[in-house]
Amino acid sequence: MHNRIHIKLAGAMLLLLFFLVRCRYDVVKDDDIPNNPIPEQPKIAGPATIADETSTAYSGLIPVVDASTSSDHEAGKEIFLATFSENPDAIYHGLGPLFIQNSCVGCHPGNGRSQPPLSEVDYDSGLLMRFSLAGEGPHGEPIAVPGYGTQLQTRATGLNAPEALYTFSYNNVNVTYADGSTLILHNPSHTLINNYTSLPSNILFTMRNASPIYGLGLLEAIPEADILALADETDADGNYISGRPNYVWNVKTQQEELGRFGWKSSAPSIEHQVAGAFNEDMGITSAGYFPVENCDGQSNCSGSSSSTDVDEQTILKLATYVRTLAVPNWRNQDDPTVLRGKQVFHDLNCQSCHHETFVTAGSSVASLNGIEIHPYTDMLIHDMGEVLADGRPDFHASTNEWRTSPLWGIGLTKIVNPNARYLHDGRAATLEEAILWHGGEANWIIEYFKQLPQTDRDALITFLESL
Ligand code: HEC
Ligand code: HEC
Repeated sequence: MHNRIHIKLAGAMLLLLFFLVRCRYDVVKDDDIPNNPIPEQPKIAGPATIADETSTAYSGLIPVVDASTSSDHEAGKEIFLATFSENPDAIYHGLGPLFIQNSCVGCHPGNGRSQPPLSEVDYDSGLLMRFSLAGEGPHGEPIAVPGYGTQLQTRATGLNAPEALYTFSYNNVNVTYADGSTLILHNPSHTLINNYTSLPSNILFTMRNASPIYGLGLLEAIPEADILALADETDADGNYISGRPNYVWNVKTQQEELGRFGWKSSAPSIEHQVAGAFNEDMGITSAGYFPVENCDGQSNCSGSSSSTDVDEQTILKLATYVRTLAVPNWRNQDDPTVLRGKQVFHDLNCQSCHHETFVTAGSSVASLNGIEIHPYTDMLIHDMGEVLADGRPDFHASTNEWRTSPLWGIGLTKIVNPNARYLHDGRAATLEEAILWHGGEANWIIEYFKQLPQTDRDALITFLESL
């Protein structure tokens, strides 16, 4: 009796084993049975994406560019990293008479965000001051301050006196969330000191921290019509969001164009931005763009040569370098906290300004066209309220208006530069602080943010960190 049961049991187990082996064999063998593949992760900038998560994350060449673009990128990189000198015999010369930094990388460490001064006089800071008088010039541009121009130069070559220095400090602002937890924000203020000559009264000031420069070739290739389609100046759809384009003067084409670069979208092209940086930040004149020193008839500006310091090829190579800097891919996309944070981002309507998706076209680099990108910006300027206002209009951008910052790659900011800070003047030490400073059109969104439970607030930050 017992034996027969044992035999039957053994037989049943053999049969089971046979089926198990067979099934497993079938799964491997039979193409019809779904094998639940892990879906391919979408890339943040398609083939212009790189996987680097280290301090070089913002410094990679877009992998798909052709050999000649790649060699221009390398040539431009050398110029970007070079230290310029006032010595006319040096390879990289033309610095000054008035300047702020002697290299591009000095203000753009690792091609990422910079930081306000860490001490009273800190030449490693990428924070600069611009100023102007009220009103606008013939092309809508800010009006130069007599004896100073439109940007403060804190250093000078030879016996020239620097224009002035500035001190920078913060006042604490307390924020309380609905759940009672608190946070301290830092409201910056600045004072000009050691000015070489008297300053007119009623000057309009703005402070600008150096912004990240990767992915800009793709932002440049977002079709203008797709940006304008998102504009809603009169808030016709009643969602409180009323972005609009900034139109700015292009010194090269001598016409008004859509502004795309800078914190107020005040530069129309990468070449324009790069040549303008040479001129105002380094005292380097360029053929075809800014052939005149930033001296503005000043007495502290002697010793500049009459010929332009760099030719147009130099500007083009430097622009190619910037244009072809790849975007680091988003990370941990399947992490439940990241997914929750992404949901919170959408629930709060952050994407009404930080627009997720475009398809590129019209780039001078053919391989940058037709790419689906996820930059999280609409490239428009928005009223961000009195709290972020700088008091200095820039073409059509009023003192309250700022370009929606791209958020791709933002999670690697501190890996690239541990001292880096966020927002146009670097006032935000963390992503949470950056969110809490949003005002104006985003005011109601931030009020919702403050109502959220801590877990959702943290999830939103974790999502931003995954970008
Ligand atoms: C003194 C510091 C400083 C130096 C030197 C400097 N930059 Fe900048 N850079 C900035 C600041 C500040 C901004 C933001 C400007 C604005 O808001 O208009 C900026 C913006 C840019 C942008 C636009 C970024 C964007 O998202 O719109 C590019 C491109 C750029 N710089 C490239 C360069 C290059 C190339 C050089 C060297 C020729 C250079 N910069 C030198 C401080 C600097
Ligand atoms: C009304 C448009 C608008 C909305 C809505 C909005 N933002 Fe922004 N965001 C901006 C602008 C404009 C800036 C740049 C402001 C500045 O630098 O002064 C910015 C800057 C940022 C920055 C800092 C970027 C940097 O490079 O320093 C972060 C982070 C950010 N936003 C996240 C968010 C999140 C998260 C939400 C939703 C809770 C949100 N934003 C909603 C327009 C908006």
